[in-house]
Amino acid sequence: PRVVFSGIQPTGIPHLGNYLGALAPWRQIQRDAVPDDVLLFSIVDMHALTTRPEPEKLRKRSWRGLASLLAVGITPETRMERGVQVGVFFQNQLPRRMELMWILSCLTSMGNLSRMTQWKSARAAQKLGLFSYPVLQAADILIHGATHVPVGEDQAQHLEFARDLADTFNHLYSPTKPILLPPQTLISPAKRVRSLTDPARKMSKSDPSDWSRILLTDSPEVIQEKIRYATTDSIQGGTSYDPVHRPGIANLIDILTWMYELKLRREGRNYDFAELKADTIKFAVPMRLKLLKGVVAQAVSDELMPFRVKYEWLTKSPDGRRELQEARWAGGKMATLGTALKLSEVREAVGLVRSR
Ligand code: TYM
Repeated sequence: PRVVFSGIQPTGIPHLGNYLGALAPWRQIQRDAVPDDVLLFSIVDMHALTTRPEPEKLRKRSWRGLASLLAVGITPETRMERGVQVGVFFQNQLPRRMELMWILSCLTSMGNLSRMTQWKSARAAQKLGLFSYPVLQAADILIHGATHVPVGEDQAQHLEFARDLADTFNHLYSPTKPILLPPQTLISPAKRVRSLTDPARKMSKSDPSDWSRILLTDSPEVIQEKIRYATTDSIQGGTSYDPVHRPGIANLIDILTWMYELKLRREGRNYDFAELKADTIKFAVPMRLKLLKGVVAQAVSDELMPFRVKYEWLTKSPDGRRELQEARWAGGKMATLGTALKLSEVREAVGLVRSR
C-alpha cells in the first residue's frame, strides 16, 4: 500500500509556487487514491521555529496553514468512506519524530549537511536548528514509512538526503530486514514557479517583496496588479517563449499552462500535457505582453476563486473553525498509527534497553 507524506511550513498564506508545486498535486493524489492508500499532510511548525517567529504569529500562521490545506480541497477522510485515509495535522502533534531525529542525527555527517542549499543560502543565521533541518525532515518522512513524497523541485536535495539516511541506517543496523523505507520523490510538473519580480529565482515566502509572489488569498485586483508589474524583459518586442533568455515571460506562459491543466482536470477531460503546453504557447505568443498579462491574471483569479471562499468560511465562521479543530485531531490520530511500532523497531535495532 502507498503511504504518501508531505509537509509545508506555516510561514504565512501559501503562494502560487506552493500551490502548483505541492498543494494542487496533493489534492490530485487524494482524488486518484485507491483503497488502502494513506495520505498524510503536515503543517511543519517545528521546522518553522528555525526562523524564530514571534510565538503568536507562529500559532496564527499554523492555523492559516491548516485552513489553506482544507481550502485547497484536501479533505480529511477515514477508511470507512472509500478505503482511503487522508489526514492533516500539525507536526508538533507527533513528538516521536524528534526522537527518531536524534537517532538519525547520530548517523549524519556535518560535511553532508553543510552541502545543503538551504543551509548555504541562510548561513548567516548559523543556528543548529537550521543546520539539522534536513534530519528532522527525514525523520518526518521515515517515521511514517512513507513510500511517496510529493514536493517541488527545491526539496529534491532534502529527499535525496532522507533516502541516503534510510539506507545508511538499514545498512548499519538491520542489513537483512530494512526498517526505514527510502521513499520515492514525486516532483510536480510545475517543479519551480519563478518569482514575479526576479525570474532568476523561485517564488518564495522568504522574498522581502510582496510583489514577487501571488498569495492564494489575493483578490482578483491584487492578482491583476502583481502580474501587471511582473518583470518581463522587453529587449525584443512582443512575446516569445524562451525560458533561458526571457524567463519572466516564459514563467507567465507556464503559469497559464498550469491553470489550463487544472481546469481540464477539474472538468475530467483527457489531455496530453505536452500538447497542452504547445497549444498554450501558440495561443500566447501572438499576444502583446499587456494582453497576455491580463489573460494570465484572469486565469489565476478564476482558479483561486473557490479557495478564497472556502478559506474565508474556515477561518471566519464558528463552523469552519470547528472543522479545522476536528481535522487536526483526526489527522493527528491517524498519523500516530504505526509510529510507535516503527520507533520501537528503531530503538531495538540501535541497542537501547527497553523502557518497559
Ligand atoms: P516549503 O514550506 O518551503 O514548501 C512547501 C512545498 O511547496 C513547494 N514549493 C514550490 N514548488 C514550486 N515552485 C516554487 N516556487 C515553490 N516554492 C515552494 C516545495 O517544494 C514544497 O513541496 N522542508 C519543506 C517542508 C517539509 C517537508 C517534510 C516536505 C518538512 N518536512 C517532509 C516533504 C516531506 C519546506 O520547507 O517546504
